[in-house]
Amino acid sequence: MRLDVFTQVPHAFAWLTEQRPLAGILGEELELRLFNYRDTTPLRSGRVDDKPYGGGAGMVLRVDVVAAALEGAYGEAPGHRVIALTPQGRQLTQAVVEELAAEPQLTLLSSRFEGFDERIVQHLCSEAVSIGPYVLSGGELPVMVLLDAVARRLPGALAAGSGEHESFSSELEGGLEYPHYTRPAEFRGWTVPEVLLSGDHGRVDAWRREQSHGRTVLS
Ligand SMILES: C[S@@+](CC[C@H](N)C(=O)[O-])C[C@H]1O[C@@H](n2cnc3c(N)ncnc32)[C@H](O)[C@@H]1O
Repeated sequence: MRLDVFTQVPHAFAWLTEQRPLAGILGEELELRLFNYRDTTPLRSGRVDDKPYGGGAGMVLRVDVVAAALEGAYGEAPGHRVIALTPQGRQLTQAVVEELAAEPQLTLLSSRFEGFDERIVQHLCSEAVSIGPYVLSGGELPVMVLLDAVARRLPGALAAGSGEHESFSSELEGGLEYPHYTRPAEFRGWTVPEVLLSGDHGRVDAWRREQSHGRTVLS
C-alpha cells in the first residue's frame, strides 16, 4: 500500500514510524510519504490558514493551500481515496479499517485549529473519517490511529496467528476477545482460571469462546 499523509506537523510521525508493526513493513508492504502543507503553500511566509468568514474564533485550513499540496503530489485529481480526518466524518470501526487496508493507495488529510474549509471536504476529498465522537486539537493523532490500525492488517505486519483472534475479528464473529493471563499462576491470591493450566486445548477453546461471547453480550 502507498499511504500519503498531509499535515502541518510531519515530525509528529517520527515516533510511530519507529515502532512495530509500522517499522517492520515500511519500504515493503507500506510506502509512507509525509507532506507538509507549508512546502507547497501559495501564500507568503508558509501560511496555510486564515480567519473564518462570518467571524468567530480560530483559524481555518485554506482550500487553495490543500489544492496546491495535492497538485504538487499528484499533478491532477488523484485516482484513489482521499480522506479528511475530522470529528464530523464517518466513524472509524474495524470494518472500515479492513476496507481501507484493502486499498492500494490512500491519502489522509489532517487539519488543526478550527479545521478544514468545507470546500476541501466537499471537492478535494472522497470522504471524511472520524476516530470517535470527541474533539482533539489536531488531525495528527487521528491520522496515526488510522495509520496504525490499517498497517497492522497488511501482510507481514504481525507475527503469524497474532492478528486473527482479536476483538472485532470475523473469527470472533465481530465480538470482543477472551481474557489473557500469564505467569505467575497466582499473585496476591489472584489465580488464573484452572482451565488455562489444564493443557486440554479443547476445553481451553470452549472456555475462550464462552468468555468472548459473554464479554460481547455485556458490552
Ligand atoms: C479542533 S479540531 C476541529 C473541530 C471542528 N471545529 C469541529 O467542531 O468539528 C482540529 C482538527 O483536528 C482533527 N480532529 C479532531 N478530532 C478529531 C476526531 N475525533 N476524528 C478525526 N479528526 C479529528 C481534524 O483534522 C480537525 O480538523
